[in-house]
Amino acid sequence: MSFFKYQDGEMHAEGVSLAAISAQVGTPFYCYSAGALRAAWREFADGIKGIKNMNASVCYAMKANSNLAVVRLFGEMGAGADIVSVGEMQRALAAGIPAKRIIYSGVGKKASELMAALQVGVGQINVESSAEIETLNAVAAQLGVKAAITIRVNPDVDAGTHAKITTGRKENKFGIDIDLAREAFALAGRQPHLEVVGVAMHIGSQLTSLEPYRAAIARVRELIGQLRTDGHRIERFDIGGGLGIVYADEKLPSIAEFMAVVARETDGLGCELTFEPGRRLVGEAGVLVSEVILVKPGAAKTFVIVDAAMNDLIRPTLYEAWHDILPVREPRQDTATMRCDIVGPICESGDFLAQNRDLPPLAAGDLVMIRSAGAYGAVMASSYNTRPLAPEVMVDGTRFAVIRPRPTIDEMLSAERFPPWMESVKA
Ligand code: LLP
Repeated sequence: MSFFKYQDGEMHAEGVSLAAISAQVGTPFYCYSAGALRAAWREFADGIKGIKNMNASVCYAMKANSNLAVVRLFGEMGAGADIVSVGEMQRALAAGIPAKRIIYSGVGKKASELMAALQVGVGQINVESSAEIETLNAVAAQLGVKAAITIRVNPDVDAGTHAKITTGRKENKFGIDIDLAREAFALAGRQPHLEVVGVAMHIGSQLTSLEPYRAAIARVRELIGQLRTDGHRIERFDIGGGLGIVYADEKLPSIAEFMAVVARETDGLGCELTFEPGRRLVGEAGVLVSEVILVKPGAAKTFVIVDAAMNDLIRPTLYEAWHDILPVREPRQDTATMRCDIVGPICESGDFLAQNRDLPPLAAGDLVMIRSAGAYGAVMASSYNTRPLAPEVMVDGTRFAVIRPRPTIDEMLSAERFPPWMESVKA
């Protein structure tokens, strides 16, 4: 079921017209459907329930969309959080996620950050290097606590995704090479202030096939056997995130199919499983709405210049990502399309949202909706060109609310200071 649909000729998020939100909030803005977020969560939760003998928990990877309202919505349905910074930790706590249900991941955590995480009592820290093992032990000793850790291993499988979002190959910076993992576990096992509870992996993002998961889990399973022989108590297996969503016409495995593979590959392993989905829970639940500033016919192609730009949604520029774009007013069936690039107003040739698209004719003032923008959209935005961060709106049925307002330019400027030696500007 799609939560974004044309009704009476106008695109709606659930029961609210995007044009109505635009009239109140201005453009560009992000819009999330609470119904779609809940449906994505339920699919995941049901997938887990459908499999017997599987003790599993879901820690939402907040990096995909860390808006407090989004995190709280998942938290209320029982989600934990996968965080990668102290900032995300504070967000998770502010959104009501109990510290015990927080997993702290990341390839380079500072001692001060590890200290903050231990002080609030996060449930698990996923460690990714020998250096981190030693640092964390020292920090835990200082606080007089024992830190529950997993060690993230790099199983060296090809996730088949874009080079910038694959993480499970030997040449990627993430995790400990699976061939070196036993040494790392031995080192961790010798630290008096660490309690090794399991193994973690995360092989990449926007995976559209289950085979890489199968291969990676099989490798980690073999490792778990060796680790147990070495005397480690391996109780948890954190499988990471990575499940893809539909941007164009991807054929995706269902969550039930994914869980079936996981169940088969982990059968009899005797581990509690953790999942860290990000994109799959929020990606299709969000859109970016933008207004056409002007249309500029060129010799080679037509440019539709809109008021959203690479600072609002960097995915097309950074990953060559394809996002579907639809006019907010429903086009007539027989409307001839025009070939165009949808670009932002930023002074960079890389500032585009879509290239060589066939869209119904657009004119200044028309609204467009950029789909599948709920994950890695608002969170990756910047204020380049002193463009205020686009506001975020949540729709729930026929209600909507601004869940992050657009900052004013004055608010943006007030965060900056002149050094004391500069003469103040005379009013
Ligand atoms: N766990 C760990 C340790 C991760 O590094 C990530 C994502 C996730 C979970 C969640 O992965 P997901 O389920 O969302 O695929 N900005 C890129 C995606 C970067 C993903 C980084 N790690 C994009 O826009 O495609």
